[in-house]
Amino acid sequence: MITCTEDCEIQHVAIIMDGNGRWAQKRSHSRVWGHIRGSKVVSDIVQEAKDRKLKALTLYAFSTENWSRPYLEVKILFALLKKFLLQERKSVIDGNIRFKVMGNIADLPDSTKKIINDLEKDSADATGLKLTFAFSYGSRTEIVSAINKWITTHPGVEITQKDLTDRLLVPDLGDVDLLIRTGGDQRISNFLLWQIAYSELFFTQTKWPDFSSEEFGRIVDYVSKRERRFGSTISGTSLKDTTQIAEKNRKFIQTTLRS
Ligand code: IPE
Ligand code: IPE
Ligand code: MG
Repeated sequence: MITCTEDCEIQHVAIIMDGNGRWAQKRSHSRVWGHIRGSKVVSDIVQEAKDRKLKALTLYAFSTENWSRPYLEVKILFALLKKFLLQERKSVIDGNIRFKVMGNIADLPDSTKKIINDLEKDSADATGLKLTFAFSYGSRTEIVSAINKWITTHPGVEITQKDLTDRLLVPDLGDVDLLIRTGGDQRISNFLLWQIAYSELFFTQTKWPDFSSEEFGRIVDYVSKRERRFGSTISGTSLKDTTQIAEKNRKFIQTTLRS
């Protein structure tokens, strides 16, 4: 077991919840049935994240590209989001969970937007798990909009990494430590491109409706044993530390080489 500073532990997990459609089609049902079954898994995973005292759980529920799907499928996904929010409101508040939706929700029905806004407001001061739903989310749009926010307020000034991070949709979300994708495909599909720079990746064949808190726990335990080095040769370090050491070394080595 590797000893790890707090900064290199698995604290923020992001999940691409994929495979609903194929799960249903394999059982001779419509894709929509897969979404209905898939939506029932979410609360178990949130509970497991809470039990494990993870700091953040970010779930990819609907991408900007998913707007290209058939009207009925999109409609059902919106309805399932609304149902989930109404069902989980009490456990979010009672569980000290800070809930947010990241993405462009402007085009969602007004009633759903109100439920989202109310829950975000009522859970804003929670100090426990940061639960974020990526809905109508695309990472490229998020990054471009962060840069545009900067340009508007600081014309002609170069942007730094911190300036950009501070202008993301949920600025205090932090880097992702572990990205899990269910469903068997090994791709990122425009999810958290900035935040996963150094995250561990885990791809499981399990389709989302079959994903369980047990498998989630097994993956977190397994990945926690991986050696994270963030570019250095020592384990148990953090990205913040290696970035600082790298900068110091770079200056020292440049001066030495010049002389
Ligand atoms: C993930 O399952 C849910 C969303 C993208 C909304 P899919 O609907 O993509 O299921 P597959 O990948 O086609 O099986
Ligand atoms: C990614 O899954 C988006 C979500 C899970 C919400 P997709 O099924 O949309 O991604 P691709 O099409 O396989 O890249
Ligand atoms: Mg898919």
